[in-house]
Amino acid sequence: MLEIQDLHVHFGVIHAIKGISFTVEEGEIVTLIGANGAGKTTTLRSISGLKKPTSGTLLLEGVEISGLSPQARVARGLSQVPEGRRVFPEMTVQENLDLGAFLRKGSSHADLDEVFDRFPILAERRRQLAGTLSGGEQQMLAMGRALMAKPKVLLLDEPSMGLAPLLVQEIFSIITKINESGTTVLLVEQNANLSLNIADRAYVMETGSIVLSGEGKALAQTDEVKRAYLGG
Ligand SMILES: Nc1ncnc2c1ncn2[C@@H]1O[C@H](COP(=O)(O)OP(=O)(O)OP(=O)(O)O)[C@@H](O)[C@H]1O
Ligand SMILES: [Mg+2]
Repeated sequence: MLEIQDLHVHFGVIHAIKGISFTVEEGEIVTLIGANGAGKTTTLRSISGLKKPTSGTLLLEGVEISGLSPQARVARGLSQVPEGRRVFPEMTVQENLDLGAFLRKGSSHADLDEVFDRFPILAERRRQLAGTLSGGEQQMLAMGRALMAKPKVLLLDEPSMGLAPLLVQEIFSIITKINESGTTVLLVEQNANLSLNIADRAYVMETGSIVLSGEGKALAQTDEVKRAYLGG
């Protein structure tokens, strides 16, 4: 579904991504874990087109997308939920969701109903300004907005950030359900414990490189991952 080959990204003289390669197969949840500054967000932003890589190949369903605008990538089925949610605070929940469907052809009423089914709290609060939602509700809105684009691949950047443990569980269970209904997921997380448990496969990043990869639950059992990312 998604294939990244030898991706390099620089910020000025800083070599933030040093030639990483990985794949996400159709129907999988793949997680990218790693410490602060490892390059997880930069990798996602390169895939969605928000950061221009220095070099490398990005294939979506076998088609090179490097030359496409972020909007064109959304239209082809890539949708990103950014780190920190980034909902439009002065717009209502409904308006935020409508924006998510902006790049799609055809009516989005059925999709809106689907998002409201998945996130009932958003239906209740559809006329509330997004900036007044709680952190967890904003995360749900950001995910709902991305789903309005009917993505083939959903890119999630630290959906658990700043949320209470119970809510984190809920968000992860929703991610699993979204995946089960047919959406491929690339999940960036610092919460290695939960993300390795829901992921089919995982890649561990350190300072711009992939240092480990494997099946999610198997990686969680390795001494290296336990020591560095699971607190023991
Ligand atoms: N706009 C920028 N300008 C300069 N350097 C940047 C910029 N964005 C990221 N970097 C650098 O690139 C490296 C990777 O950052 P990135 O945000 O991708 O890490 P991350 O793995 O997402 O970290 P976190 O877990 O803290 O979100 C870091 O060294 C960071 O300082
Ligand atoms: Mg990040």
